[in-house]
Amino acid sequence: MNDDAARELYITGLHNAHAMEEQALSIMKPQVDRLEEYPQMASRLQQHIAETEGQIRRLDEVMRSTGTDESAVKDTFLSAVGTAAAAGHAVTSDEVIKNALANHAFENYEIAAYISLLTAARHVGDTTGVRLLEQNLEEERDMAGWLANHLPEVTEAYIGLRAAGESGKR
Ligand SMILES: [Fe+2]
Repeated sequence: MNDDAARELYITGLHNAHAMEEQALSIMKPQVDRLEEYPQMASRLQQHIAETEGQIRRLDEVMRSTGTDESAVKDTFLSAVGTAAAAGHAVTSDEVIKNALANHAFENYEIAAYISLLTAARHVGDTTGVRLLEQNLEEERDMAGWLANHLPEVTEAYIGLRAAGESGKR
């Protein structure tokens, strides 16, 4: 592998990560307003939306420092995971569960993307990129962990709300 190959992979990876984070915003933002029965999930999602906006700013900074013209490559992130997560937008009764699963899958996709991107960043010796991308990776790991840890709680809350609804108590 020569340095041109590594650099090409790195630049492409930065653009893909940018598109991935834009997609993350489009998946999370519509969910927040429909989570009034799940305030903890709503506030964690709101927090991660803010984090994701910061991640996009970091990616912009890395792309600027590598001399990449952001507009030169169109954002084209279309993965099976992204499509599955977007499909969760349909309003169904168990929407909160489906979205929780899709969000968890998406965060893990992001973790994998940053692990690969960081490998390329280290290969080309972009120390600024490594520092900023590690911050993105850490936030994705925190979010993925939070979602996994709160899945039982969200599931129980959903069951409780359904049971109360069916017995006419709410
Ligand atoms: Fe994320």
